[in-house]
Amino acid sequence: MSSGFPARFREAVGSGATLVEAPGTRESRLGFARSVAAGLSDEPKWLHCRFLYDAEGSRLFETITEQPEYYLTRTEAAILVKHAADIRTITGPRTLVELGSGYSVKTEHLLSAYVDEDNPLLYVPVDVSDTALREASKAIAEQFADVQFTGINGTYRSAFPVLRQLSPQMVIFLGSSIGNFNPAETTAFWRNIAGHLPVGDFLLLGVDLVKDVAVLEAAYNDAAGVTAAFTKNYFVRMNRELRSGIDIRQIEHVAIWNPELGRIEIYVRFHTDQEIYIEPLDERFKISAGERILVEISRKYRLPEVTEELGTFGFEARRAFTDDKEWFALLLLERTDDSVLRRPLYSATTR
Ligand code: AVI
Repeated sequence: MSSGFPARFREAVGSGATLVEAPGTRESRLGFARSVAAGLSDEPKWLHCRFLYDAEGSRLFETITEQPEYYLTRTEAAILVKHAADIRTITGPRTLVELGSGYSVKTEHLLSAYVDEDNPLLYVPVDVSDTALREASKAIAEQFADVQFTGINGTYRSAFPVLRQLSPQMVIFLGSSIGNFNPAETTAFWRNIAGHLPVGDFLLLGVDLVKDVAVLEAAYNDAAGVTAAFTKNYFVRMNRELRSGIDIRQIEHVAIWNPELGRIEIYVRFHTDQEIYIEPLDERFKISAGERILVEISRKYRLPEVTEELGTFGFEARRAFTDDKEWFALLLLERTDDSVLRRPLYSATTR
């Protein structure tokens, strides 16, 4: 069992280490192949969005965040600048744990509010990219002498078993990354967070809000074509790692708003019939001209819905901070009820 990681992490914090690798961090070629084969065997076809983030995909995503149409990153950063001190006032001093921290750029606004010479701050960023963590650790060391940086190189999931030892804490999950999870993954994520976060701890959650369709669709169809390149890079990766033999010139990025499900859906549409090969499994999949494969979803929220959803997992919203246009929200939630996970999630109904 993996009881070794929490102990290894405790030692890393004690010794002031900057990085500790969680088990199961490296994604194998076979894992990628199996995931692609599962999605292409289904109808309609889909692909798992976590494989968008190879080195080129991560670089393209950083460029997306700088596009004029992609309002999410700069709107969230502005909310953080304006309200970091208010957040600190509500939570008081505590360890900051950030899931999917990347280069920790936006988090620096929070660190400024939390760092205090009487209470040295422990910051625990969690990310699958060790490059991003190393860069973040350098930048933070230059700016904040009183911040202890102990990063976890791993998936979100790898951090859950160490959360109890970090209380009192605030878990930070920014960028509306929750919107990229499908409904089953979202429920599993809330259950995991709830199952590991003691009562009295906080969660700071960034969520993108429902707004004008034109604004939403433009954010995922930037004029410079960066989002299109990001989506197509998935298929470039398949060609490189799985020898898929896809003709990239014959595929197109399509991003549209789905009003029923309240989400942007990002597809690749094939202009011609193609066959996708998956070398590690020696499997082939036929794609017809005009067929679409779902590559990513990005759910958009209404605040009452998300607070109600989190209420069922024992979280109470303490404050919601938004921008003037109410395009994006930072929700500060406190874990107030840990009995919810001992009850069945849905009450039994008669059929
Ligand atoms: C990371 N995530 C929140 C982005 C989003 O807006 O859903 C990913 C993205 N995909 C295309 N553009 C941005």
